[in-house]
Amino acid sequence: MTSARTIPSLVTLALALATPAGAGGQSNAGALSDAAGSSALREPPVLENLSSEPGVVEVRLVAAPATLAYGPGGATRVLAFNGSVPGPTLEAREGDRVVVRFRNELDEPTTIHWHGIHLPFEADGSPFHPVGPGEEHVYAFTVPPGTAGTYWYHPHPHHRTTHQVSHGLFGALIVRAADDPLAGMPERLLVLHDNRFDETGAIDVPERRSLQARIDDENGREGDVLFVNSQVGPVIDIRPGEAQRWRIVNASAARVYRLGIPGSTMVHVGSDGGLFERPTEVEEVIVANSERVEVVVRGGAAGGEEATLQALPYDRYIPQTRPRDWDTPRDLLTLRTAGEPLADPVRVPEILREVAPLDPGSASAARLVVLTQGMINNRKMDMARVDITAPLGATEVWEIENLVGMDHPFHLHGFRFQVIDRNGVAVPFRSWKDTVNVPKHERVRIIVRYEDFAGKWMFHCHILNHEDMGMMGVLEIT
Ligand code: C2O
Ligand code: CU
Ligand code: CU
Repeated sequence: MTSARTIPSLVTLALALATPAGAGGQSNAGALSDAAGSSALREPPVLENLSSEPGVVEVRLVAAPATLAYGPGGATRVLAFNGSVPGPTLEAREGDRVVVRFRNELDEPTTIHWHGIHLPFEADGSPFHPVGPGEEHVYAFTVPPGTAGTYWYHPHPHHRTTHQVSHGLFGALIVRAADDPLAGMPERLLVLHDNRFDETGAIDVPERRSLQARIDDENGREGDVLFVNSQVGPVIDIRPGEAQRWRIVNASAARVYRLGIPGSTMVHVGSDGGLFERPTEVEEVIVANSERVEVVVRGGAAGGEEATLQALPYDRYIPQTRPRDWDTPRDLLTLRTAGEPLADPVRVPEILREVAPLDPGSASAARLVVLTQGMINNRKMDMARVDITAPLGATEVWEIENLVGMDHPFHLHGFRFQVIDRNGVAVPFRSWKDTVNVPKHERVRIIVRYEDFAGKWMFHCHILNHEDMGMMGVLEIT
């Protein structure tokens, strides 16, 4: 971690707190865009821990309108956490008590959902617990041991998630382990998202019932500007021989990234819920919206080499609304080898950690969850209805079947799961997941254990427009 990451958080926090709602915060040093590109990657500020008690991380988050240098037009009206897009990064360690003092300075209800974190129902920030405009709310949870990984947070109000996230409300949450097998390796946080701007440079919100609105409802909202943090085409410097750990969050409303560095491989070390048992060498990795990956990338041998991280074509669409340029690779960032060779880089060990298997033999139910366009099991979301009921402590297998010709990334709140197989073919290795992409006409089986927390938990398609339209259901654990 560079020390530059921690300094802007104070600045940002001060700005956000000093800025009355609607007055527009000014830009912060940590997470601005420069649409022209080719500057060094900047990472979001890290939230300042206001607690001096060991094992407690206490932070303040404010959601408010702001004006930032974001997008091609320069000063742009956004919605931001603490005046920053992406929002500041929440860093905690396994076992930490996290206390988030949140204030909603938007003019509509919102929530903060801690995507992928195992926590009590009251802290989940789901549509069941809206925070009204002007209200404050305290989210409190303990990060369970064994869950070190890269997570993220975003609003989850009923029907308005696309709007709020597309305007800038999202940030990363990193959980660290005391016994991290990659400790000491330089890290980078890459929050990927895309956006679209109108002729005035404002974030584009299509007219209701316009053609664009209908395409967004079908495809999920996509934009032609691809951001890494809030930069377009930033540069990451790496020394000859160095290895870097990249934590990548897909915070897009709908875009699926098929990531590759042409001419070089990456070491895929982790996904949603942290590290795998073993690293795997890959040429590309697919990150559906709301998924995370961890990869280790290496610099060139001599210095002066340049490589490009690209978003390679990925066809998740139905033909009718597939974007015309879907098969054009897009450059995301430049990896530039420079500086003195590194004599003794941190290496990726052969065994990273244990991922204990969940046993399908212990499952007390096998459920079929059918995805169609905008619906789950032929129903749209109803906050007053419970779709699935199960007892606390039960283990279940869910088969998620996608009957339509478009991918739907399926997400479950509260409980991490393991993917068993895809179309009947066992997945090559275990990992902890909270979102799994279900490609067109495919089926995926997952296994989950409902540990610790009763309550009502959402499961939904994480294409935000689909979620807003009701492609969501409720699992009640009693
Ligand atoms: Cu990332 Cu229900 O959400
Ligand atoms: Cu979630
Ligand atoms: Cu969907």
